[in-house]
Amino acid sequence: MSQYADRIRLNSLCEKITSAEEAAKLVSHGQTVGMSGFTRAGEAKKVPLALAARARQEELKITLITGASLGNDMDGLMAESGLLARRMPFQSDAGLRKAINNGEVMFIDQHLSDTAEQLRAGSLPKVDVAIIEACAITENGGIVPTTSVGNSASFAEADVVIVELNLAHPAALEGLHDIYLPAKRPNRGPVPLINGQDRIGTPYIPVDPARIAAIVVTNQEDSYSAVLPSDEDTQAIADHLIAFLEMEVERGNLTSSLLPLQAGVGTIANAVMSGLLKSNFSGLTMYSEVLQDSTFELFDAGKLVAASGCSFTLSERMCHHVMANLDKYKDKLVLRPQEISNHPEIVRRIGIIAINTALEFDIYGNVNSTHVNGTHMMNGLGGSGDFTRNAHLAIFVTKSIAKGGAISSAVPMVPHVDHNEHDVDILVTEQGLADLRGLAPRERAQLIIDKCVHPDFRPAMQDYLDRACATVGGQTPHLLEEAFSWHTNMRKTGHMLGKR
Ligand code: COA
Repeated sequence: MSQYADRIRLNSLCEKITSAEEAAKLVSHGQTVGMSGFTRAGEAKKVPLALAARARQEELKITLITGASLGNDMDGLMAESGLLARRMPFQSDAGLRKAINNGEVMFIDQHLSDTAEQLRAGSLPKVDVAIIEACAITENGGIVPTTSVGNSASFAEADVVIVELNLAHPAALEGLHDIYLPAKRPNRGPVPLINGQDRIGTPYIPVDPARIAAIVVTNQEDSYSAVLPSDEDTQAIADHLIAFLEMEVERGNLTSSLLPLQAGVGTIANAVMSGLLKSNFSGLTMYSEVLQDSTFELFDAGKLVAASGCSFTLSERMCHHVMANLDKYKDKLVLRPQEISNHPEIVRRIGIIAINTALEFDIYGNVNSTHVNGTHMMNGLGGSGDFTRNAHLAIFVTKSIAKGGAISSAVPMVPHVDHNEHDVDILVTEQGLADLRGLAPRERAQLIIDKCVHPDFRPAMQDYLDRACATVGGQTPHLLEEAFSWHTNMRKTGHMLGKR
């Protein structure tokens, strides 16, 4: 009887247990590898390091596809070893970011719901080897994921599957996941999910056990989330947003349980969600991608009744609390493939309130979520586009200034567009909230200047708009020779309005 009998319930698979170094030999130069992991949760912990060690000694370059960003410095270590030729669809690691911006790693920034679809369609190279973290393997060889599902169910269709069985994750995670993948086109039926908390699939990733080529046993926790606590500005953003949602309830457009909420990654979105703790809303639900600390704060306060996502990203304190109380949350919580958590048709049908963070936005409501100064990748688009285009309310939040006031998050024209003016409904900074719905571009511009722009930049922005309207005109007035001057000033002088 194997010492892992309770975790590897198909006995014959125990003979596949091997070292990370042996498992890493299953990957060859030039191959495409699909790895579990989504926003620093549920990534493989040992085989990526063994691959990086090989890449330091021999020619080994791969295309790496994941759910999203990886924890425990995996992305940075793999980038530094030279292992990564191509990487998709999201990352948030400083070392990998540098390699991407130096042109050493080709990064494909993708809508997170779309990667699995593109794999299925043959638009991306077939995954040669899948490396998937599990908390158990079922009697029929099914893989029970850990703290994220991401794209793992799609990767598991590879001919070679390596499972990392991580004993640091509680076995009690089993039962949390709902694995459903749409069929290949054409003749695909609708996804049979009616309510956000419905279960429509299996609690494990079905895999033919013959394709499980290696099992590596690990015992290492996920990285903890690095989000910062709420501050005066994020609190002000939350207050503006809650006042707006209360108004929508008063107008009869929403009920006091609102509609399913989606909140993006990062400090600001998490702080905004925490702000709901003090609101009068109740019976809230989430249909989101990442579930951060705020989800569980809202559960514990009795404000939230159900949440669906594709990963947890939690602080150390919250992670220990959640793992110790999994049974308390299990009937209210589902983790799904990102293709389903971010599914555009479901988002449109159930009417999501999408709250994502912008790096910057322009006076007409176009949003840049990804490119610092128009050229340098920050993290990636993530699921923000999946939700924004189809949401009941597409909301973007950001502080009105960054880098000690040298940067205005509101600019005349964004030098990179992730979300365009047709998709963005609401902009919120600590200065105020601009409801852009039903407004023409010239009306939107004035409202954004009045409500969202920081006072240090407001006169310059007003002057830009006034001159654009007076001298050029048009449906969407711009001074094209000046439109990016705030960004070029930033590059030349370190301040968007020039040396101060
Ligand atoms: N120009 C340059 N840098 C800017 C900036 C701007 N206009 N606005 C913010 N920043 C910098 C901040 O100074 C900070 O830098 P630091 O890490 O050196 O301190 C960094 O960007 C992060 O900003 P912060 O204010 O802490 O916000 P955040 O943690 O909420 O992250 C995004 C903001 C936009 C980077 C993050 O939300 C993101 O990657 N979004 C895209 C993906 C997404 O939306 N996914 C959601 C789907 S679930």
